Amino acid sequence: MSDSVPESVNLITHPVISRNLTILRDKNSNIKQFRQAMKRMAIILAYKALEELPLRSFTVKTPVKETTGYAIDQKVTVIPILRAGLALTDALLQFIPDAAVGHLGMYRDEASLQPVDYYANIPAGIKDALVLVVDPMLATGGSADDAIGHLKKRGAQHIRFISVISAPEGIQRLQNNHPDVQIITSAIDESLNDEAFIVPGLGDAGDRYFGTE
Ligand code: PRP
Repeated sequence: MSDSVPESVNLITHPVISRNLTILRDKNSNIKQFRQAMKRMAIILAYKALEELPLRSFTVKTPVKETTGYAIDQKVTVIPILRAGLALTDALLQFIPDAAVGHLGMYRDEASLQPVDYYANIPAGIKDALVLVVDPMLATGGSADDAIGHLKKRGAQHIRFISVISAPEGIQRLQNNHPDVQIITSAIDESLNDEAFIVPGLGDAGDRYFGTE
């Protein structure tokens, strides 16, 4: 992990995060252990990503007395970057069951290391929504940069990016190109290797989560 945390990064630390991150990193974790650990991580990251949602107050009657109740006063749209982003989506929907979900399909070409877009289905109304872009891995930042650029062109104004593990290179790229986007992550790793894999990282999140290794 880097010594200092960049201002645009909300680095989430918690004993439960540390334990589950270890399960994700461990190459001997099987698919079931990997999936379960990813789901637990997703819950904590989702909880933190929703921390500053505005509330609307109203009167609610308990069986005993009237009191003040609260509802979330913000539309939320979740955008998983396919495939691996799907692993983080359900946790957000558990907290915000009426959130819209858009999908951006992109993979990183292994030779050029550039993101290749293959699918986009973005819900209407992202202009006014809090848009949460989710992908467990922020490596070069190419996919996230591309995804966020696409969403901004479609009118998105309030975007947060949620990842499990981030490389300094990816963070720097998002800071340069999208300084308005807060990054919520549970680890800032050392660097990228020659194949642009995060070091130490966890390998390929999509392959390990979906069993396509
Ligand atoms: C991985 C990962 C990110 C991207 C990160 O996806 O899930 O989407 O690479 O790399 P970048 O920051 O350098 O763009 P991958 O291409 O393996 O596709 P997958 O999710 O379908 O496995």
